[in-house]
Amino acid sequence: MTEVPEHLLKRSRDRRAALGLGGGGETEAQPAATPAAGAEVEPTAGATAAAAPAAAAPAEVEVKPPEPPPPYVEAALQRKRIPYWAMPVVGLLPIWVILYAGSLSPADTGEATQLDLGAEIFTASCASCHGGGGGGGVGRQLSAGEVLKTFPNIADQIEFVAAGTQGLGSGTPYGDPAREGGQRTAGSLGNMPAFGETLSPDELLAVVRHERETLSGEEVPAEEVGENETRVWPNGSPMFEEGGTELLSPEGEPLLDPSTHLLMVEIAGGSPAPSGQ
Ligand code: HEC
Repeated sequence: MTEVPEHLLKRSRDRRAALGLGGGGETEAQPAATPAAGAEVEPTAGATAAAAPAAAAPAEVEVKPPEPPPPYVEAALQRKRIPYWAMPVVGLLPIWVILYAGSLSPADTGEATQLDLGAEIFTASCASCHGGGGGGGVGRQLSAGEVLKTFPNIADQIEFVAAGTQGLGSGTPYGDPAREGGQRTAGSLGNMPAFGETLSPDELLAVVRHERETLSGEEVPAEEVGENETRVWPNGSPMFEEGGTELLSPEGEPLLDPSTHLLMVEIAGGSPAPSGQ
């Protein structure tokens, strides 16, 4: 019998211990059980040789191939993983949702514009006589450029709506003297109510803008569009100042006389103010 070197024995013990066969414990116990072997001293060749096969024998019986993992575990191990790049994508989803939702509503979610206000007032106070789209009825047609033919200048239209037929005086010519079909005369169609008392100055401006821009398609030059899509004079000065109490002329003077609702000043570039003043 050849001597089995100690390091090989140790390797065998470790191996069995690793396989879970309890080899380590047994071998440790062996020298104690056989006093001849001697616990501390170097084991004799015989003792070692006897111990090795004795220890190896049960190992041969017990060694079984590791159980194959159950099919569901195997399936889990083999299935396709979510790729790593998907993680930042999933992480950014909420941000995308917020941006997408933001893009659905108009950019300025703040206050309604002057034109929004004008549309509201028109529906509430004017549509009954002039039609929802300004097509006319009891009142004159305001759509399809008609109101622009009467009032090339917005100031004259503001005056007309504020003063009404009676404020101008029945029989008084108003609007563009060169209007196609002849200049308008107050009372020629009927009685247009005065809105100088019932509408606030900003509402008056807003509804006039609605008639001109939305119903009649007026093209407003860029320099006449102010902050928050308000309308300003060609010189850039406001027609109505936020928080103000009256409409203003291009020079910053009150536009309308508070008692008559007629123009206080003649606006350059417009048709001559009605002679009813
Ligand atoms: C009760 C019916 C009635 C209501 C309400 C009414 N209008 Fe009139 N509107 C008229 C009549 C009638 C005329 C013609 C006036 C005339 O011949 O003197 C007129 C004329 C006008 C004109 C002149 C059009 C042109 O080409 O001559 C404008 C501008 C106008 N209305 C704006 C308005 C606005 C703005 C409102 C709402 C704030 C309004 N109207 C509400 C009956 C009405």
